[in-house]
Amino acid sequence: MAGKKILLIIGGGIAAFKSLDLIRRLRERGHSVTPVLTKAATEFVTPLSVSALAGEKVYQDLFDLNDEAEMGHIELSRAADLVVVAPATADLMGKMAAGLANDLASTLLMATDKRVLIAPSMNVRMWEHAATQRNLATLHEDGILTCGPNEGDMACGEFGFGRMAEPMEIVGAIEAAVNDGPLKGRHVLVTSGPTHEPIDPVRYIANRSSGAQGAAIARALLSLGAEVTFVTGPADVVAPMRVNLVAVQTAQQMLEAVNAALPADAAVFAAAVADWRMEHAADQKIKKDGNGLPVLAFAENPDILATVCAGTQKPKLVVGFAAETQNVVENATAKRKRKGCDWIVANDVSPSTGIMGGSENDVTLISKDGAEDWPRMGKDQVAQRLAEKIAEALG
Ligand code: CTP
Repeated sequence: MAGKKILLIIGGGIAAFKSLDLIRRLRERGHSVTPVLTKAATEFVTPLSVSALAGEKVYQDLFDLNDEAEMGHIELSRAADLVVVAPATADLMGKMAAGLANDLASTLLMATDKRVLIAPSMNVRMWEHAATQRNLATLHEDGILTCGPNEGDMACGEFGFGRMAEPMEIVGAIEAAVNDGPLKGRHVLVTSGPTHEPIDPVRYIANRSSGAQGAAIARALLSLGAEVTFVTGPADVVAPMRVNLVAVQTAQQMLEAVNAALPADAAVFAAAVADWRMEHAADQKIKKDGNGLPVLAFAENPDILATVCAGTQKPKLVVGFAAETQNVVENATAKRKRKGCDWIVANDVSPSTGIMGGSENDVTLISKDGAEDWPRMGKDQVAQRLAEKIAEALG
């Protein structure tokens, strides 16, 4: 692998001494390391030893006029191929999850447009604390990669999870992260979330989609190196970082955004698009005027998936979803043919399944070769498996 540029943020934990070895291992393998020390890190390792091993200047202060003149914090955060935080203390993880930027390390983490890998390290109780686990879930949602922690004896005399991963394990995770994945150079379009169809300026028709499955698919595709255009309706979940984000409200806007995003190598239509809109949305709020109930006249929305499949810019692989409440496989098999897509991910969205708006999914993948039943699993796992299958199919 060609040498990569690693921006290494060293946090203030006892495992900081292992980061010295990490620097050596990375340099042996031809990578360059630009080190950043938090104030607490200087209690465990000295800037001099870090700089001597890295062969580079150590950055420490947000408001260092010399550094800002030479290389501002924004540039520093963008010049690397990967930002690595090792050790990532509970405090640093909390700052990252909350979006705080009150020193150089946290500001770089907010300002970067690169992937971030953290190697957590802390006491077992701190690791197991609900706050840390909540922060970890948030960081995963934001697409932050993690390596470790491992289980073992701790410097504080306790035993459990919280030991920072060993330097060579972190090197492996770093190389996996900078190694261009199987979807490198591929453009994949993902639609996600519900659409909102206005009745009047204050009311709309919508559905219960949270956008969780679509967002998870976008993250999984990114992790395999794809460039992702993410066209989303008003979802409950936040959009993944590092996608080309197009936010829309209505089905008609979603169709326009999808057409504008083509060509793509593959497309995944995970959005729960409203089938109908008002024939004429009112310009002003509909009032109770004493003349009886309003009559809502519907018009059919364009079928985005079917339109793309019938168009001249149809991606090589088109994946649709089928939200069904009965006869899931039969309905979805018919839907695949009717819409002209290659695969359909079918799921039962009956309220009793808890799938719509929940964190798990139970899907059957339908292709021309038949139906493949997947076990019930987290939406992230469904997304990862689907992304891997897409990578395989694109070859
Ligand atoms: N879809 C779309 N545009 C629409 C409706 C649906 O692109 N106007 C896509 C969805 O993103 C999904 C697939 O078509 O990938 C199937 O959506 P689904 O709601 O299950 O099916 P419908 O076409 O709405 O059919 P029905 O309501 O009869 O089940």
